[in-house]
Amino acid sequence: MKILVTGGAGFIGSAVIRHVIAETEHAVVNVDALTYAGNLASLGEAADSERYAFERVDIGDAEALREVFARHQPEAVMHLAAESHVDRSIHGPADFIQTNLVGTGVLLEVAREYYERLDAPRRAAFRFHHVSTDEVYGDLDGPTGLFTEETPYAPSSPYSASKAGSDHLVRAWYRTFGLPVLVTNCSNNYGPYHFPEKLIPLMILNARAGKPLPVYGDGSQIRDWLYVEDHARALVTVLESGRVGETYNIGGHNEYRNLEVVEHICALLEELAPEHPAGVTRYAELITYVKDRPGHDLRYAIDAGKIERELGWRPRETFESGLRKTVQWYLDNDAWITDVTSGAYREWTRRHYGEQTPSAEAQAKE
Ligand code: NAD
Ligand code: TYD
Repeated sequence: MKILVTGGAGFIGSAVIRHVIAETEHAVVNVDALTYAGNLASLGEAADSERYAFERVDIGDAEALREVFARHQPEAVMHLAAESHVDRSIHGPADFIQTNLVGTGVLLEVAREYYERLDAPRRAAFRFHHVSTDEVYGDLDGPTGLFTEETPYAPSSPYSASKAGSDHLVRAWYRTFGLPVLVTNCSNNYGPYHFPEKLIPLMILNARAGKPLPVYGDGSQIRDWLYVEDHARALVTVLESGRVGETYNIGGHNEYRNLEVVEHICALLEELAPEHPAGVTRYAELITYVKDRPGHDLRYAIDAGKIERELGWRPRETFESGLRKTVQWYLDNDAWITDVTSGAYREWTRRHYGEQTPSAEAQAKE
């Protein structure tokens, strides 16, 4: 089938396209506006395939989208285009409302017009797969409990609220207009080509540069980590075999406190990059506690039982194997890193989260 993927130049979208081109016979049309987070270099060899096409289009531009649907005649949509970073959404929510809510609304309308004009067999096969996050459920405030597909929505940040709104729009287009939708809500992804504003790549790059590793609050918040290639495989499985109108939660069964994640990265760097930056004797001495994120969610954890039972998907990477691959990838891919690092945004975080002072442990050593 031919799949129109929005956000295919981003972290997860590019993993989806690399997976589709390498492991399936489907064709892809990548629709991406190329914001700061979009980078065509992340497509690698997939971009050379005859089954790949790129269209630089903003999902808020109905006319341009109509033209792309008419010309490429997709058989499915996988919608990943979004503003995706919580800190940015606190700094400036407007882009999140525009792309995640308004943009999704525009895309849904264009997809519906297109779908309603298809002949019966093509209409029966058409799917609109909306890719979302577990952050729509808010947070879990104890060490037990898991998000299921029935957990009520209670988003905390402008990012998660905008994603929650987009999920509601997608379900409304199913219920009201009969658009055949699928929704997936996934936990935190990590892996190659991750923009270095997010926790894991930021910590790897800062440590290598001998810069502070800013842990928000006391670092006790818990995230469930999934290797991005496992997510890409799950998404294609849901598109191919998921039941229309259903939601599937996707997670890694890998819950770690932020501080544990940062310490794990430091330990891997000791092994894989033993030559420290000037003035640093141990990567972990760079750990620095900074002001907490406003509204910081305490714990996310996913029950991924439904996708496992119904569709047979399970993650292949453990956190240990995935994190090792990820650290090695960032050590080996300077060109990609230089390409995407501007630094301007980190200046805002530095000001907002406070001056980054050395950790108590490092101070005690001095
Ligand atoms: P990303 O920020 O790395 O990439 C987003 C992509 O969307 C970029 O290529 C960008 O250019 C494009 N884009 C942004 N605004 C656009 C617009 N108006 N029109 C067209 N393209 C636009 O994001 P990601 O981490 O790859 O996340 C992809 C999707 O998965 C998002 O919908 C996100 O909410 C969801 N998700 C992410 C995670 C995670 O851990 N990163 C977890 C669960 C779900
Ligand atoms: P992030 O990668 O931004 O993902 P999300 O907010 O969507 O979960 O952050 C992951 C966790 O790491 C989150 O609890 C915030 C924390 N964090 C830090 O402690 N320091 C940082 O510099 C960043 C970017 C995140």
